Amino acid sequence: MNNILISTGSYLPEKILTNSDLEKMVETNSEWIIERTGIKERHLAKPEELTSDLASKAAANALKKASLKPEDIDLIIVATTTPDLTFPATAVCVQEKLGIKNAAAFDIQAVCTGFIYAVSVADSLLKSGNFKRALVIGAETITKIIDWTDRNTCILFGDGAGAVIIEPSEKSDTGILSFSIHSDCSSRNILQTDSGVSLNQKAGLLRMEGKEVFKHAIVKLADCTSESLKKAGVTSEQIDWVIPHQANQRILDATIVKLGMPKEKLISTVAIHGNTSAASIPLALDWGFANNKFQPGQTLAMQAIGGGLTWGSVILKL
Ligand code: COA
Repeated sequence: MNNILISTGSYLPEKILTNSDLEKMVETNSEWIIERTGIKERHLAKPEELTSDLASKAAANALKKASLKPEDIDLIIVATTTPDLTFPATAVCVQEKLGIKNAAAFDIQAVCTGFIYAVSVADSLLKSGNFKRALVIGAETITKIIDWTDRNTCILFGDGAGAVIIEPSEKSDTGILSFSIHSDCSSRNILQTDSGVSLNQKAGLLRMEGKEVFKHAIVKLADCTSESLKKAGVTSEQIDWVIPHQANQRILDATIVKLGMPKEKLISTVAIHGNTSAASIPLALDWGFANNKFQPGQTLAMQAIGGGLTWGSVILKL
């Protein structure tokens, strides 16, 4: 028996930061950003706008679409690298904002792979029989840990949240068919924050060796997707859509080529969202539904890589 996707929702902060805005902040130009990343604009949370605010709005959107009430959810998982507080978990803040009384709620920290990890954990917990319906959210105010003087990173990131609701079904050929999640600390220094709560009582700013991350991304994304396909007994020809973590259009293009799939199967929102870390896949998924890309019975491959390094993929049949 598989867990099926019954609803999606998303939320993007109102403020948009364009490439032209960035030209006024650092030594860069819009043509370079578009050519090297594909990004044209990204959304920015206000200082008082918290990750749980974005997450709650995305989740409320998903609940509304499925005509569900707060009491219909008994498991909340938020994937985030930018929690409201060190504790309690952002998922508990979301629980309060949505009035979901009887649920377990916790966060997952796997940086940009967070949503893939969260779906994998939710899938396993639902299969244990202990929960009836899960709200899984990827939410970030990642721009709050960006160094706005560093042109190597500040052009890439944006804020947002996406949510999905999954529940057990009687079906064995639909829903979450497989997942694979991995991590390897040997390259942690190419993508990490320069501070931490335990290290020096600060949240820190994001530091990245972009070229190095780029090289790992293509190989690891293609490898874990092939692994999940194999586990699911699905061929790459049977995949209708690939929904990657939206990091850089060149990574998306190179990975789909490495997987031997046509570029027409790619869902790409990187131009309008930028890299929203754990939020990027559920945002792209909801965008796909809103733009009538998906049909019932189609099979999706979701894939992500992030700090750690962590990486993983999920095969989902609608
Ligand atoms: N505007 C203009 N020029 C810039 C620039 C910017 N914002 N950022 C860097 N440059 C310059 C560099 O200084 C360098 O100049 P030099 O040749 O005179 O030294 C030149 O552009 C090329 O820099 P490089 O770092 O080689 O560019 P790149 O093609 O690798 O692109 C990234 C940089 C960050 C866009 C790219 O490496 C990338 O996307 N990496 C993966 C990042 C990622 O996805 N991270 C998150 C994963 S979860």
